[in-house]
Amino acid sequence: MARIYAIANQKGGVGKTTTVVNLTGYLAGSGRRVLLVDMDPQANATSALGFDKKQMQPSTYQLLLEQAPLDSVRRQGQFQIDLLPSHPALAGAEVELVQAIGREYRLQRALQSVAADYDYILIDSPPSLGLLTVNALTAAQDGVLIPVQCEYLPLEGLSQLTQTIHLVQEYLNPKLHIRGVMMTMYDSRTNLSRQVVEEVRRHFPNKVFKTIIPRNVRLSEAPSFGQPINIYAPQSPGAIAYKLLAAELITGDRRNGGSEHGG
Ligand SMILES: Nc1ncnc2c1ncn2[C@@H]1O[C@H](COP(=O)(O)OP(=O)(O)OP(=O)(O)O)[C@@H](O)[C@H]1O
Ligand SMILES: [Mg+2]
Repeated sequence: MARIYAIANQKGGVGKTTTVVNLTGYLAGSGRRVLLVDMDPQANATSALGFDKKQMQPSTYQLLLEQAPLDSVRRQGQFQIDLLPSHPALAGAEVELVQAIGREYRLQRALQSVAADYDYILIDSPPSLGLLTVNALTAAQDGVLIPVQCEYLPLEGLSQLTQTIHLVQEYLNPKLHIRGVMMTMYDSRTNLSRQVVEEVRRHFPNKVFKTIIPRNVRLSEAPSFGQPINIYAPQSPGAIAYKLLAAELITGDRRNGGSEHGG
């Protein structure tokens, strides 16, 4: 069975999509069967894998509204990465699902049928704590990964996120927990970066990944070439960091699950 992780932080631009795409790239590159689920109407993960988001019909929008089965939504991308693509129309789902029965469980239900086909399912989420993110958290049976940007003192926003995680855990997905916090866009020249890492480590003892992702221009270029960093610039500092992060994730999963394949 797949390990299913949501990547979430309601603050915009902290590196959620960059982390999802590049972790997926390295997991696939090391032979893991991976599915990336794009739950953000911005569809940045979809385009970062080389797809034209405006052409993505059906998308996770139809999947959530139960207008299309998962197999018709799923694309085989390059780089051995399968994708449930997003489309700008997904923005409407927040509103259209409000009255729907089981609205928080739509993604979880849809993924049940394919969990056995993968080693990892990673879900990208939008910068909000609305129904799309709640669907991602409800489906995330192995936990949530939280990217935190080192350029900004984040604690206020993080306690709001932690509160949402607790509510989802209590009412919707008892398995939900914080699998790990990753520090992104680290700039070794600034004191602020160091302070943020220290503060977040204090706030989330034993949860912060040792690997820190540096600010690296290659990471911001790769999406416009439709390639994850392991393909676009494998020697760059950003690539090396995401490779180490993927290894750290896999090692931790082995340790607390017997087998990373979901014991
Ligand atoms: N380590 C990094 N070094 C340099 N640029 C980065 C790094 N990580 C992310 N970026 C760039 O910063 C911007 C925001 O990153 P990203 O899109 O991954 O954040 P996000 O949390 O998914 O944003 P949103 O909340 O809008 O979905 C992007 O332009 C991305 O290319
Ligand atoms: Mg994003």
